[in-house]
Amino acid sequence: MDRMVSLCKRRGFVFPSSEIYGGLGSTWDYGPLGAELKRNIKDIWWAAMVHQRDDIEGLDAAILMHPRVWETSGHLDHFTDPLVDCKTCKARFREDELDSARCPRKPSKTPKECGGELTDARQFNLMFKTFMGPVEDDSAVIYMRPETAQGIYVNFLNVMGPARQKIPFGIAQIGKAFRNEITPGNFIFRTREFEQMEMQFFVKPGEDGRWFEYWREQRWQWYLDIGIREEKIRWHEHGPGELAHYARAAYDIEYEFPFGWKELEGVHNRTDFDLSRHAEATGKDLSVFDDENKKKFIPFIIETSAGCDRTLLTVLVDAYAEEEVRGDTRVVMRFHPRLAPYKVAVFPLVNRDGMPDIAGRIAADLRRHFKVFYDDKGAVGRRYRRQDEIGTPFAITVDSDTLTDQTVTLRDRDTMAQIRVPSDALVAALHERLHI
Ligand code: GAP
Repeated sequence: MDRMVSLCKRRGFVFPSSEIYGGLGSTWDYGPLGAELKRNIKDIWWAAMVHQRDDIEGLDAAILMHPRVWETSGHLDHFTDPLVDCKTCKARFREDELDSARCPRKPSKTPKECGGELTDARQFNLMFKTFMGPVEDDSAVIYMRPETAQGIYVNFLNVMGPARQKIPFGIAQIGKAFRNEITPGNFIFRTREFEQMEMQFFVKPGEDGRWFEYWREQRWQWYLDIGIREEKIRWHEHGPGELAHYARAAYDIEYEFPFGWKELEGVHNRTDFDLSRHAEATGKDLSVFDDENKKKFIPFIIETSAGCDRTLLTVLVDAYAEEEVRGDTRVVMRFHPRLAPYKVAVFPLVNRDGMPDIAGRIAADLRRHFKVFYDDKGAVGRRYRRQDEIGTPFAITVDSDTLTDQTVTLRDRDTMAQIRVPSDALVAALHERLHI
């Protein structure tokens, strides 16, 4: 994990936010490669959930919502964690994590073992508050959304009508969410500002069980499709004590991180809880008409809720490999080609005999199709290694043979095998191998 985090900093995937000011607790910035990787994750999710289906519509709702939304949703009363303070060292812990947390003064001990006196637990609401308008009084308090889902519920009818959808259908959204977590950590695993990729699927009551199973299958397959190793993911079913106040059934997809099995995504059967509560609170009719039995009903909701940053961490952890190559350690990010920030690198073998010109022209031509990295600095072996480290699936080298037969070397990141390809056939060769 430490080596992967240091690679992320060194190569420009992720670094601490406001670093020159000493950083700000658990906020992170995505550099050029991280921004590209994150965008690819979101694009693949959006393609699978919205573009490739005719029963899901996209939405981009505001982060700031009417404060009563959070009263209705239950977040004001229930979105809390039990907080415990140490009277000795002033550190704060979640009560439910006391057995695994570490005392900052005596890191070999848990807060229960270190001898410090702990306060009783008190409930701490995780929503960030701010003020809307110039007067900072209670009537101006609003919240940074702690989940994107509520933006979907309040817009249910706004989307269904204009999109001419009928039940069953879904609404998908990607966007920032904010939680004042007591114990953020493990790099970008738990942060206070993060992005969610959520989809709410509206179904007839009675059909919810079938759709729940359907979405569990779809979401499991999505992780396989982006190249996550199947043996590293598993299902965790929420027991009665774990179920959120709104859920009838809930399963998490978990990934085996270096710090243990942890939640990646939740698939929840939220029943008609959300729409019923919003209808009750606003007096608006959020029911739909059932053509079959000529009755109105409030749809049930099956939710799939994934963390984008957490998926990115999973992708990084899953792709990171170190291997011995001819007595040397090669670090390689085995990203699925669709996720890789750069798809191909182009090198002139040496900076003479017109090779940089040819390589430059090839790079410019390929850039119309793929994200391309051009590099003419240092030994070619080292250039390959630099690309391996950032997960570029292919590298092309222009050498002396290119000058006579117009072919180039195409090197595969994973096998390191090299073949010769005519330079005018590169676009097709790459399309075929990248599966994009
Ligand atoms: N709308 C349902 C909901 O928000 P959740 O289990 O609280 O459910 C869904 O969050 C997903 O959002 C999680 O599975 C995780 O991937 C991501 N997530 C939640 N809190 C996070 C945090 N503090 N940092 C990063 N990702 C987080």
